[in-house]
Amino acid sequence: MPDRDHGDIFSEEYSKPFLPPDHFKRKALVKDDTPYKEAADDKLAYWAGMAENIDWMKKWDQVLDDSNHPYYKWFVNGKLNVSANCLDRHIENGLGDKKAILFEGEEGDSVSLTYNELLKEVNKFCNVLQDMGVNKGDAVTIWMPMIPEAVVAMLACTRVGALHSVVFGGFSPEALKDRILDSNSKILVTADGAYRRGKVIQMKGAAEEELKECPSLEKVIMVERTNAAHQPQEERDFLWSNLMADAADDFSPVEMDAEDPLFILYSSGTTGKPKGILHTTGGYLVGVNTTFRYVFDYKDEDIFWCTADIGWITGHSYIVYGPLSGGSTIFIYEGTPDYPGKNRFWELIEKYKITVFYTAPTAIRSFMRWGNQFPEKHDLSSLRLLGTVGEPINPEVWIWYHENIGKKNCPIVDTWWQTETGMIMITPLPGVTATKPGSATKPFPGIDADVVDDEGKSTEPGQRGFLVIKSPWPAMLRTLYEDPERYEQTYWNQYQGIYFTGDGAWKDKDGYFWIMGRVDDVLNVSGHRIGTMEVESALVDHKSVTEAAVIGKVHEIKGHAITAFVTLKEGIEGSEELVDELKKHVGKRIGAIARPEEIFFTYELPKTRSGKIMRRLLRDIAENRDLGDVTTLMDPEVVKSIKDDYSDN
Ligand code: PRX
Repeated sequence: MPDRDHGDIFSEEYSKPFLPPDHFKRKALVKDDTPYKEAADDKLAYWAGMAENIDWMKKWDQVLDDSNHPYYKWFVNGKLNVSANCLDRHIENGLGDKKAILFEGEEGDSVSLTYNELLKEVNKFCNVLQDMGVNKGDAVTIWMPMIPEAVVAMLACTRVGALHSVVFGGFSPEALKDRILDSNSKILVTADGAYRRGKVIQMKGAAEEELKECPSLEKVIMVERTNAAHQPQEERDFLWSNLMADAADDFSPVEMDAEDPLFILYSSGTTGKPKGILHTTGGYLVGVNTTFRYVFDYKDEDIFWCTADIGWITGHSYIVYGPLSGGSTIFIYEGTPDYPGKNRFWELIEKYKITVFYTAPTAIRSFMRWGNQFPEKHDLSSLRLLGTVGEPINPEVWIWYHENIGKKNCPIVDTWWQTETGMIMITPLPGVTATKPGSATKPFPGIDADVVDDEGKSTEPGQRGFLVIKSPWPAMLRTLYEDPERYEQTYWNQYQGIYFTGDGAWKDKDGYFWIMGRVDDVLNVSGHRIGTMEVESALVDHKSVTEAAVIGKVHEIKGHAITAFVTLKEGIEGSEELVDELKKHVGKRIGAIARPEEIFFTYELPKTRSGKIMRRLLRDIAENRDLGDVTTLMDPEVVKSIKDDYSDN
């Protein structure tokens, strides 16, 4: 394994690590390795120090209770409220008139809310929730476009002590239904529709049938965003605007225990059923507040733009809770980067004078392909720091970002983390760390990440292994919602006492981490996590399908593209129409992001003698590699014939 995996691609200029620019370092929040040293000296004292940046209604008695592995407790007996930390305390500190949210819709409409204004909206929605009988510990599902009301709804849940379960707006009504049922939500907050590339996508109206199949659901609150059609159901359905017009604008934040649940966020795993990842209150807030300020080098005057959707963990931690608990100004954009033109993001950076821009490698790969002419047309000089998240970034894409967006002036923070970790775990600190394109660099202070072999032993530099976290961290998931067994099995049974991330990685001789991607049956498609089993279950659920195997084929822009190998029921012939129908079917079961790029019909799937589908071989076929040893297969001929048919296809 080379120490740098791009040794030959770049000129001399880029053959050394990138040091933080002097002008950046001079003003950086963290200028030297003090936090690393402090955390190494006494990790718990370090996190206790970071927790001092949060307002507690009652201080904790103990930083970490690790007596009941793997059910850790942080800031034991501490009491706090997340929304009070994101709103009230900034107002008490004189920031009431500071902008909290700047929003631009796809159609060019805009809204801005100061911290004072945001608090009033949140309070009003708290009163709405309370009037609807929402109590501490109840679950509220939020299925919305990227509009400020989504943030208001999330913060209001935390203020009344309800758990939110935000479902990505691009998930289908059926996926929404599964998540409402699993979380037992009483309330759904949604919108009539969303704007997407100039079209209106119906939301509530498209989900009427599914909502009828959710017995726990008592009330549906709908924001009118697009005038999309829907069928209001008396007594169950309410308009956001009507409810808010009548609601009082004060509400005292409910005192929450540090370990009270804060939210559930569903994420794909290795079975057909998504996992309800549960985060709690105190540790999560300490984790995202600390990482937000240090990784993004918080400055009072920043306008921070994280392009993720609020329905993913990146949106939770670095649109909402990190920046707002830090008193920052966030920018939210409703639409996509290519509408109405491929310069949309650069136009917004210029217009809103964005200072910190955080996006996914898949988006940067598209920007790069579209060409430099789009960013070149705009003044991007407000930018001072860039970030990436969600998947490994190819070194050449990193360099493009550095040159064409950062104008060689902005450090890049490549941040590795997961829905489960809640907070950024491996990352540069932009005023301190020398960066190497393609490496997420080093663990954040207080994070014990390592790469280990099958036996759990640390690997040598250059040796591939599994990425693990060797001791608890404040924003870690606490369990899987109502499924502790799966929690233990997925994360803690691989190695004794250490957290298994599901990623492969290696470290170089400087101790830098290079993440290679998932080692389990989870795909990363355009930075979104999708389980192969989830797509397979959706395919098998179609009347014509007997069996399906799904793999991720390497894709230039998306990282992975979903390729499905499908066997059909007796007497059914594969056809172009059936391919389209199956793609649509998966879109309906899960959402457009899970729709296979390619579907290939085969009379059988390659299986081991114990009946396990050999996805690795299918990947080799799809990526045109030699098949190697196939003798362990039940029928070695099957794989050869699939290979021949696939290459003829
Ligand atoms: O494989 C890793 C990849 O994304 C996975 C986590 O996905 P999700 O829970 O959806 O959260 C994405 C946003 C935090 C990881 O297991 N991943 C995330 N960030 C990086 C990454 N891979 C390489 N480099 C990264 N910076």
